[in-house]
Amino acid sequence: MSLKTSNVIRKKGFATTLRTDKWWLYPGLVVFGLTAFLIYGFWSAWQADFYWYSAGQEGFGGYLAPFYSPLLFIKEGVEGAAPMQHALFGAWPTWWPSWLPPSPSLLILAIPGIFRFTCYYYRKAYYRAFTGTPPACAVGALPRKPKSGYKGETGLMIVQNLHRYAMYFAMLYIVVFFYDAYLSFFRGGEFGIGIGSVLLLGNPILLACYTFGCHSIRHLLSGRRDCYSCSMSGNIAHKNGKFVGWLNKRHELFAWLSLIWIMIADLYIRMVSMGNITDLNTWL
Ligand code: FES
Repeated sequence: MSLKTSNVIRKKGFATTLRTDKWWLYPGLVVFGLTAFLIYGFWSAWQADFYWYSAGQEGFGGYLAPFYSPLLFIKEGVEGAAPMQHALFGAWPTWWPSWLPPSPSLLILAIPGIFRFTCYYYRKAYYRAFTGTPPACAVGALPRKPKSGYKGETGLMIVQNLHRYAMYFAMLYIVVFFYDAYLSFFRGGEFGIGIGSVLLLGNPILLACYTFGCHSIRHLLSGRRDCYSCSMSGNIAHKNGKFVGWLNKRHELFAWLSLIWIMIADLYIRMVSMGNITDLNTWL
């Protein structure tokens, strides 16, 4: 009996398993979710227009689509573009290749892209879902060449070590998005609230919950010490650790919530800017 069982367990091959639950559901949802996000993200970045809405009002305030924030340069004369005073460095640069659309989004997507791509949670998710190595616990992996085999995060995948540096830039994005949210509560200098403001405020809150649950931040704020009770800084590190640890346990949840939320906020503002939907707000 025991011999028979061990033979079954040793059965090899991609997706073979003794598991009887729906193990395939999770990698399937990851493939769907990340593919949808990537397609939408590249499509939105490529458009180069309709990323701003202020109902034609001059002055302070307006909605800025989050995939286009921060605005480093602005191309004038583009439909749905933000006023020039929102550009950090002014008018669109002449060195930009003509075969690329003049999209402020293409200039700034690399940092958040690298941050998410190298995140410890997303690594687990896409290694399982896209490369099947393995697709789930106790499920047969895609066969690999015996000689090259698994090399861990060496070779090309050494790029994953960029995560700890991308983390600092990701924190800047939280500040920028909070500023955009602040901007969205004004139109022509008048305070108000709209669906767009709520979406733009939720974006940095969820991004902060995701970012401060980062494993690198947990190490930075509460790791690297042998004794918490031996010094004042140890006590502070312990308190930080409790907060960051709470977020860290929910890192997967906030990874998805922040990803979906930013996509919805971006799409919403694009639709409002194009005139496809009407923003419900207190300025009407
Ligand atoms: S581990 Fe996920 S953001 Fe750093």
